[in-house]
Amino acid sequence: MLKRVYVWEFPVRLTHWVNVLSIIMLAITGYYIGNPFMHAYSSTQYIMGWMRFLHFSFAYLFTCSFILRLYWAFAGNPYANWRVFNPFSAEKIKDLIEISKFYLLLRRDVPPALKKAGHTACATYVYLALFILFIIQILTGFALYSQSHVGGLWKILGGWMLVLFVDNTLRLYHHLIMWLIIAFILAHVYISWFVERAEKNGLISSMFSGYKVIED
Ligand code: HEM
Ligand code: HEM
Repeated sequence: MLKRVYVWEFPVRLTHWVNVLSIIMLAITGYYIGNPFMHAYSSTQYIMGWMRFLHFSFAYLFTCSFILRLYWAFAGNPYANWRVFNPFSAEKIKDLIEISKFYLLLRRDVPPALKKAGHTACATYVYLALFILFIIQILTGFALYSQSHVGGLWKILGGWMLVLFVDNTLRLYHHLIMWLIIAFILAHVYISWFVERAEKNGLISSMFSGYKVIED
């Protein structure tokens, strides 16, 4: 029998979609900052100024959203809890092995680990890696930002990295991580769509409504 389970609480859904919007805006404006493909023909056009303004505005939104998700990893339900992302948990490792065997066609039956309500074990490892990329992106971003914005907060949020790395190295990593995040998005959207179609479990709508459909 199938049942509906409330899995994704409002802060998880909110931060997910705020991140999606922010990352789209940050990638477009960031790409332009690194490679200005449109040229201004008059000083009133101010294209780079607007791109940087949008980049910084969405950078603030993205950082706030990330901090809220971090807080929710301690305040939220068990599906959002930080323990779900603990890569050393014995249960997670066991689930990962079970799921990998299924994906590698080494076992026929669908493992129970794939029928759990929250993220699958595979997904949690990928999301943990993604969250680490988010942190590096925020630190390198604020390190670059602190060069033109003097203040203690920017120093704490990333400015201290300028003591360890030169500006160009930080810029390069900031740029390269954008491509890693884009690679994640391509795989993530395809997998979400594929699983939704194969399992008919309303996976994508769960990120809007909060409810997942699972076997009782
Ligand atoms: C910038 C693009 C995106 C990023 C960075 C992203 C990132 C993430 C992250 C980090 C999670 C884990 C949620 C958490 O525990 O906080 C997640 C879950 C999810 N996302 Fe996205 N997402 C993106 C776009 C999308 C899109 C466009 C869709 C819809 C097609 C989607 C569908 C889902 C679904 C269904 C889940 C839950 C999957 C599960 O049970 O593991 N995402 N996403
Ligand atoms: C997913 C998130 C982000 C993406 C994809 C992204 C992408 C980029 C890219 C591609 C560049 C151009 C680098 C180059 O080739 O020169 C850039 C520049 C920059 N980014 Fe980000 N960024 C993100 C988040 C942030 C955050 C959180 C901050 C924090 C303030 C930030 C601040 C900056 C700054 C200050 C620059 C340099 C601007 C300039 O020199 O005018 N970024 N970003």
